[in-house]
Amino acid sequence: MCGIIGYIGQNDVAKKILHNLKKLEYRGYDSSGICLKKNNTLFVKKSVGEISNLQSKININFNSHVGIAHTRWATHGKVNVTNTHPHISQDKMWAVVHNGIIENYLEITKQLKEKGIHLYSETDSEVIANLMAISQKQNNALKLHEVTTLLHGSYALCLINAKEETLYIARRHSPLYVAHKDDACMVSSDPACFSEDFHDYYVLPDECIATVNSDGVTFYDQNMKILHLTPCEIGTFEKSSELGKYSYYAEKEISEIPHVLNDIILNYQTVDHFKHINKSFLKHIKSIKLIGCGTAYHACMIGAKYLEKFTKIEANAYIASEFRYQNPMVDKNTLCIFLSQSGETADTLLSLELAKSKGAKTLAIVNVPYSSIARNADIVLPLCAGIEIAVMSTKAYNAMLMVLYLLSVHIANINNDFSLTFPSEVKYINFFKNIEKIDEISDLVLKSDKTFFIGRGEDYVTALEAGLKLKEITYINCVSLPSGELKHGTISLIDKKSLVFVISTDEKLLSKNLTSASEIKARGGKIVLVTNLDVQDNKDVDYIYKIDRPKEEISSILSVIPFQVLAYKTCLKKGYSPDKPRNLAKSVTVE
Ligand code: AGP
Ligand code: GLU
Repeated sequence: MCGIIGYIGQNDVAKKILHNLKKLEYRGYDSSGICLKKNNTLFVKKSVGEISNLQSKININFNSHVGIAHTRWATHGKVNVTNTHPHISQDKMWAVVHNGIIENYLEITKQLKEKGIHLYSETDSEVIANLMAISQKQNNALKLHEVTTLLHGSYALCLINAKEETLYIARRHSPLYVAHKDDACMVSSDPACFSEDFHDYYVLPDECIATVNSDGVTFYDQNMKILHLTPCEIGTFEKSSELGKYSYYAEKEISEIPHVLNDIILNYQTVDHFKHINKSFLKHIKSIKLIGCGTAYHACMIGAKYLEKFTKIEANAYIASEFRYQNPMVDKNTLCIFLSQSGETADTLLSLELAKSKGAKTLAIVNVPYSSIARNADIVLPLCAGIEIAVMSTKAYNAMLMVLYLLSVHIANINNDFSLTFPSEVKYINFFKNIEKIDEISDLVLKSDKTFFIGRGEDYVTALEAGLKLKEITYINCVSLPSGELKHGTISLIDKKSLVFVISTDEKLLSKNLTSASEIKARGGKIVLVTNLDVQDNKDVDYIYKIDRPKEEISSILSVIPFQVLAYKTCLKKGYSPDKPRNLAKSVTVE
């Protein structure tokens, strides 16, 4: 979360900074700000809301050779102009932009106050500029090093000083990248920003700092020893996706699901992504743990079911932020699989580091190939979903399920179960069967006081994902739970104004789900049954929504689609923006 840009150049510095900051808006769009240095003075402009609000306040011809900027996703302090970065030290000599959380900022604030320093914002970030200002070290690189030793928590930092044309950068856990050429240098939270102007870039190593100016980039490790790093080539970044005929990315990305799934099958047939997942890699694996957050965690839940069913190896799904603090049972005989669209989710990344420190074998399934999670895992499997812009993850989820399915088949085959094959019939499936009926169903949601999603097995996971989609972009409070759990408490909420989606795609569980439907009906609730099975007319079901009937194993890939569309349509009816829901960001780089 939070996007950082730093730039040094001869011309168009403000223009370059704003152009690249816009590319980072997916990381947070609460507010944004810029600081430009001119004649030994730091000039700051800030604005609440999207970056276009800031753009309108800036004279892009402002004559400056160095500047920093930030697009914020607030963790500490309200969304307002005062809390917007960059933050300036009381002596007006230092400006800082920060991504992350300084856990001991209250303690530092107290110490600064005792020294007579006034802090204007409620953020955890402003202390950093002031710590730089009061440091007694001989040079600015040493000052930055000293400051980083005082900070607890996570950070990507970019600072400028009113008297110099240098960018000072540091990071712990949050990603930061730097590029340099003869007449310009740039720092960014996302290397994709470099693709237009630079030939290569460096990854700032964790816990390290660097100074960046026209002489080049000097990297220092934790002991201020100079590091010589090898640059990464630019060339693998995907072009940003155009909306084309669509009104919103959410709509475009849902419509891409069939192509994405076919592309994955084709890509995995032509490229041997599984070559390192061989007999020797799997030899001592006794259990598999799948780790992710939000939608990616739901994919982990389905993945665990595929893996256990096909490979007979024990597999379990974990929420990354829980996994990290439960002292997980992980050793060299554990395969840990990390799922992440962005490849930058802080809790998932830190779980990966934890698993590695315990000796586990690690595998990452990510959509962004140059991301931190991809760089750190032993093996990477690409999602091949294409760039996903809408904060609500849709096609990446379907892609995760498909890659997990292929992986499970591959591992089962290695373990000599050759009866399983890669799916090939995906192109014959009608992904959007009956999708026009979602409009009516969306009206039912809007008319109800309470919405529930229930199912068993994989359908329970679909219920969770359906609920997350609806909450995320319509702000409707809804509940997802396993059908069998209803009578253990939640059924007390059911009344005449309740709408319950019963998801049922497994023949063996249909009668159980229909029993749950009867129990809800008896309490006055309205039922929408979402199924690919042949269901006779049932007096307890108000509405049957039929999805296409694919090969049983991949039905979860399909059954979620009506719910992705339901959330999208309901969001539009409520007059909200589906691509940038409030309080959220596409890349969650804070814990
Ligand atoms: C999905 O719609 C959400 N935006 C969110 O749950 C997301 O899936 C989660 O933050 C994990 O992100 P990742 O896949 O990039 O790690
Ligand atoms: N903690 C900082 C703030 O609230 C930065 C937040 C972030 O990186 O998400 O301003």
